[in-house]
Amino acid sequence: MPKISEEIQINSSLCKTIYQYPELGSTNNLAREFIEKDKKMGFSIVAKTQTAGQGSGGRFWESPFGGLWSSLAVQPQINLHQLGIVPILTSIGIAKALETFNIPIMLKWPNDLLFQNNRKKIGGILVEGKVTQFTLHYLIIGFGINVNNKRDQFPAVLRKKVTSTLIETDTKLDLIDLLKSIINQIEKQFEILKSKGVITIIEEWKQHPNILGMDVIITNKDEKVRGKVIDISRFGQLILNTQNNEEMTFSTGTVTLLDNDD
Ligand code: BTN
Repeated sequence: MPKISEEIQINSSLCKTIYQYPELGSTNNLAREFIEKDKKMGFSIVAKTQTAGQGSGGRFWESPFGGLWSSLAVQPQINLHQLGIVPILTSIGIAKALETFNIPIMLKWPNDLLFQNNRKKIGGILVEGKVTQFTLHYLIIGFGINVNNKRDQFPAVLRKKVTSTLIETDTKLDLIDLLKSIINQIEKQFEILKSKGVITIIEEWKQHPNILGMDVIITNKDEKVRGKVIDISRFGQLILNTQNNEEMTFSTGTVTLLDNDD
């Protein structure tokens, strides 16, 4: 097991302890190891840097010092058919937390958080879990936010596409304060899901700046489809009106915005 640098107790029904590490391969992987080794559910792992950060679609996730690289290990009381809503409610929670630090966010289905003013990527979410036929054993909600990062910490190919809270506001944020705020907001979203149901979460997503109405290309495995985003389903799927005027529904995929300036 890697050497821990700090253990922080917090008052949240979703997460009781934050385990902080100087360096890890991937916080999602260590969270899984913890769970498999019988750590109680309801904790967060945070690393100052990751050497093998995992992005969606099996991509490598750049995790330089200064960013918030964290995973929440939870066992929410939700129905299996609500699993597709988890990235959606997580993105709402993270956006709300960032907005309390005056960072305006646009939600890009399914896992991306963009800085609203220039639509550059400021964060991403990777939800993994263990599900058997009727049981949700656990969920690992991984998220990476570019916080106190300078442009030269990212590889040249990414510099036009990504940003950080420091680049946009010239202000440093306390990573643990931000993490606590994110945990608190995700907890609230799970409570809304439990008390009011998926439709309320979807409505909340729609009320937040997002990609509805935008022209996009969605890449799903080897297939690329161009169209306009017209809705999000009650299962968290993206609904597109294609160029042939057909309605198509996607559960996964990578969305490229066509009306982006760069
Ligand atoms: C994406 O591709 O947009 C999702 C990126 C998720 C990255 C985070 S960083 C913390 C956690 N640990 C990982 O290895 N990945 C997630």
